[in-house]
Amino acid sequence: MNLLLAEVAQATQRLADAGVPSPRNDAEELAAFVHGVKRGELHTVKDTDFDARYWEVIARREAREPLQHITGLAYFRYLELQVGLGVFVPRPETESVVGWAIDAVRAMDVVEPLIVDLCTGSGAIALALAQEVPRSRVHAVELSEDALRWTRKNVEGSRVDLRQGNALDAFPDLDGQVDLVITNPPYIPLTEWEYVAPEARDYDPELSLFSGEDGLDLIRGLERTAHRLLRPGGVVVVEHADTQGGQVPWIFTEERGWADAADHPDLNNRPRFATARRATP
Ligand SMILES: C[S@@+](CC[C@H](N)C(=O)[O-])C[C@H]1O[C@@H](n2cnc3c(N)ncnc32)[C@H](O)[C@@H]1O
Repeated sequence: MNLLLAEVAQATQRLADAGVPSPRNDAEELAAFVHGVKRGELHTVKDTDFDARYWEVIARREAREPLQHITGLAYFRYLELQVGLGVFVPRPETESVVGWAIDAVRAMDVVEPLIVDLCTGSGAIALALAQEVPRSRVHAVELSEDALRWTRKNVEGSRVDLRQGNALDAFPDLDGQVDLVITNPPYIPLTEWEYVAPEARDYDPELSLFSGEDGLDLIRGLERTAHRLLRPGGVVVVEHADTQGGQVPWIFTEERGWADAADHPDLNNRPRFATARRATP
């Protein structure tokens, strides 16, 4: 075994002892990052090229700084996004939410689908839809100026129309025209603060995590925004916590102008997102 792989084994143990959820993955990613190689090439790093800065980044991860803040990068579907303090790190469970949305837009058979991403954060959802749905016209809104510093870098050169503002009154110019509204808003109940992983609680912005006592304050408001933006037959997709699968579809009721409200699991089979169609009058 070369020196680096031996150090990775030791680092894995340290991260495991610190409660890091995927210690081997993170120890290898950080070794690759520090030595400027791909994860599969760690065995090619010569003993003489071992960089002691590896132990500095391991100490940061041990203190539960997110891996993505240390490397400055987050991977989301086919994207590499810049992230750091001030912006929410996109999560793997959101990838399946976007997967469902892509299938829904394709099934609509619209030539240039009009898509709105509310609460875009790093821009992950909007950029994935722009990349994976040919000829889509994608608009995204974010409230936080700190987050937008990252979003602007990520959307540069893409065709995403990024705006700063409150999602609740965003895009009045698109009222009644949108094919798909998608959102991964803050949804953690304030009462669950103490159970949130240190990486999220200490590094993701508070505005990106919490929304009232039961976590549903913003989603209740966004229901009206989605209804205003969508054309009849248009679809809304809302990510939520795995404890909210019994509540969120009930926000999109027939009385409020919705049809086919349903909830869907993520790849771990946990309730993850609700969908509904704007009823045709
Ligand atoms: C859970 S994060 C999700 C970010 C991104 N959509 C993703 O999936 O990675 C929620 C985002 O909503 C933003 N946000 C919170 N309240 C908002 C509001 N009223 N209008 C617009 N954005 C808001 C936060 O700043 C944060 O970036």
